[in-house]
Amino acid sequence: MCPGFQHSVTRKRLSNKSKMKSAAFFEVAILVTFFVYAAYAGTRNYSTLSQQVFFKSCMDAKLKGIHSSGLYTIQPDYAHEPFLVFCEMEVDGGGWTVIQNRFDGSIKFYQDWPTYKAGFGNLRGEFWLGLDRIHEITGIFVNELRVELEDFENETRFAKYSVFSIGSEAEYFSLKALGGYSGTAGDSLEYQAGQKFSTYDQDHDNSENNCAVTFTGAWWYNACHRSNLNGNYLRGESNESGMVWTKFRGIKYSLKTSRMMVRPSSEGIDSTMAVDAS
Ligand SMILES: *[C@@H]1O[C@H](CO)[C@@H](O)[C@H](O)[C@H]1NC(C)=O
Ligand SMILES: *[C@@H]1O[C@H](CO)[C@@H](O)[C@H](O)[C@H]1NC(C)=O
Repeated sequence: MCPGFQHSVTRKRLSNKSKMKSAAFFEVAILVTFFVYAAYAGTRNYSTLSQQVFFKSCMDAKLKGIHSSGLYTIQPDYAHEPFLVFCEMEVDGGGWTVIQNRFDGSIKFYQDWPTYKAGFGNLRGEFWLGLDRIHEITGIFVNELRVELEDFENETRFAKYSVFSIGSEAEYFSLKALGGYSGTAGDSLEYQAGQKFSTYDQDHDNSENNCAVTFTGAWWYNACHRSNLNGNYLRGESNESGMVWTKFRGIKYSLKTSRMMVRPSSEGIDSTMAVDAS
């Protein structure tokens, strides 16, 4: 029954002033009920329609006018949920999502599979973003990778790859596409290309031994490595277990800083080469 109809019926039945008063009260009650309901429905509608739309990547944020580096929430097309990342917006055109950052050895990088899968550390400090997220960012849409390194003489170098893609957990987060090197650090990742990720508790390398244990890291070990950026923070001249990038300071030098970051490939390479049966 609509409020208007109710209203006229009520008024017909009422004859004296007090009854008119209660009719007015009844009318107000109906109106209040209606508005409360409308407001409630509106709120529900609002929260449904306004589900926040996140940036798809740091590059997306950059293209939409975000120019300062910092923490942003992104949700790549194939990610189950949005997540927080550090976006580097200044270096080399910006739009980079940082996936690894080390500079003082304050965070322990000798971690197990679940920890590498989930990520660890502090996004404003040293951290590993996590293999699940790295896969969500780079697994479907091929990305570029930029690796920035510094030694203890404060000498900086970089290695950039125009193609970088990480497989799913079913593929052991393999380094399934890597190519198009340029830079000043030398290419010390090529030897790891195509390899599965290994941690001390999940050995997927091509060695008789467990490379992750021998070199106290977690990486796309082959038999075993030319780079070991998740190795121990050994501070300069040491051994192959350190934070190594062979073509920069040799295999027995542990670097001071390492930062790895990705962004959608400027060449617009799609997933044809990265998508597979998994
Ligand atoms: C490297 O940079 C740090 C911090 O800026 C400085 O304290 C140190 O003296 C520098 N070392 C060399 C070898 O230049
Ligand atoms: C490398 O050096 C560290 C620290 O001195 C040591 O603990 C480790 O056993 C060494 N690793 C290798 C492979 O020699």
